[in-house]
Amino acid sequence: MNGKSITIIVGGGIAAYKSLELIRLFKKAGASVRAVLTRAGAEFVTPLSLSALTGEPVYQDLFDLDDEAQMGHIQLSRTADLIIVAPATADLMAKMAHGLAGDLATTLLLATDTPVLIAPAMNVRMWDHAATRRNLATLKADGIMMVGPDEGDMACGEFGYGRMAEPEAIFATAKAALGAPGPLSGKHVLITSGPTHEPIDPVRYIANRSSGRQGAAIAEALAKRGAQVSYITGPVNIPAPQGVEVIAVETARQMFDAVSAALPADIAIFSAAVADWRVDGAGATKIKKQKGALPIFTFAENPDILASISALPGATRPGLVIGFAAETDHVLDHARAKKKRKNCDWLLANDVSGDVMGGADNQVTLIRDKGEESWPMMSKKDVAERLAETITKALKTS
Ligand code: CTP
Repeated sequence: MNGKSITIIVGGGIAAYKSLELIRLFKKAGASVRAVLTRAGAEFVTPLSLSALTGEPVYQDLFDLDDEAQMGHIQLSRTADLIIVAPATADLMAKMAHGLAGDLATTLLLATDTPVLIAPAMNVRMWDHAATRRNLATLKADGIMMVGPDEGDMACGEFGYGRMAEPEAIFATAKAALGAPGPLSGKHVLITSGPTHEPIDPVRYIANRSSGRQGAAIAEALAKRGAQVSYITGPVNIPAPQGVEVIAVETARQMFDAVSAALPADIAIFSAAVADWRVDGAGATKIKKQKGALPIFTFAENPDILASISALPGATRPGLVIGFAAETDHVLDHARAKKKRKNCDWLLANDVSGDVMGGADNQVTLIRDKGEESWPMMSKKDVAERLAETITKALKTS
């Protein structure tokens, strides 16, 4: 990141303290950083700590003659390679979506032609509110990139989506955004990967053999081509792909929520081996052995994530929805039926009767409305490269 110039706008949220660590990461990587602090942001971090970390003055006031003499706000908005808003509060997002420019931060955001990455942070109800969903859709349509928010405990005592992404994740997304523009620049891809774990009790769970290797390879291949990738993964033991936003989940329902939160997307790829069922009423305490009595579980059906996203109406549906079909027998017949049933645009069928699940190689058949292509057995990395190329070509001609 040597020689890159970043402007970080620090909004007014409890997560503002994490932006100090973010600045440190950029500085360590050789970037120069300028900080803009909103009035609300200054309630959470001090200008002094920001300027100590950036080694630059901190910009706070639209009408500060000193600042204007050193660097006017128009210039401040143009000289960066990337503008990051972290934390991006509900208020800042609303102002951005509506083109308001009542202070330095929003003026700079309206005056810029530099790529902008936001890291939202707010209470879960604010995040779920219809107004925020609308603003988010507007911002995405305007080409604003986003990282997070994550799910977790909040400062306000609630639990859910709204925690600002960790500084490492924001840094990784920024790095990908700063990379050489590729054929998929400006495209947002979401991809599910790995298994899901469905709890039986606090210590036991139902899982499957998916390693997540194929999904991770696809995520990386797309990020390499410039896409902004939200990689939603079940529990896996492989390194996270480079240059993507990692959203870790455990259960099918969490995966479904994470996919919904990551929308809108241009492309959605469902490579996860999602458990079809969960144990109904999995308890909060460990099930104890009882002499002579075997436990009996009843199951509840998990949401079908791929089918639900494929069924979204109009522009809320990603333009290209790709599913997988892992089959052990009558592979192509089952896969064709699955494509119809789930109403996805493309489907990659693979035979998992051997050691494909967990292995390094894969043999897939790509099923599209316009025909089928059987690809030879190759490494999962090569499958990912070929899929990324096929997607790139398809978008060019669409
Ligand atoms: N899938 C999903 N949500 C589920 C189940 C599956 O998103 N609850 C997605 C997978 O990620 C994959 C495709 O649907 O892209 C097919 O998954 P697969 O397990 O092969 O299909 P199932 O619907 O589970 O059908 P079956 O088990 O009968 O083969």
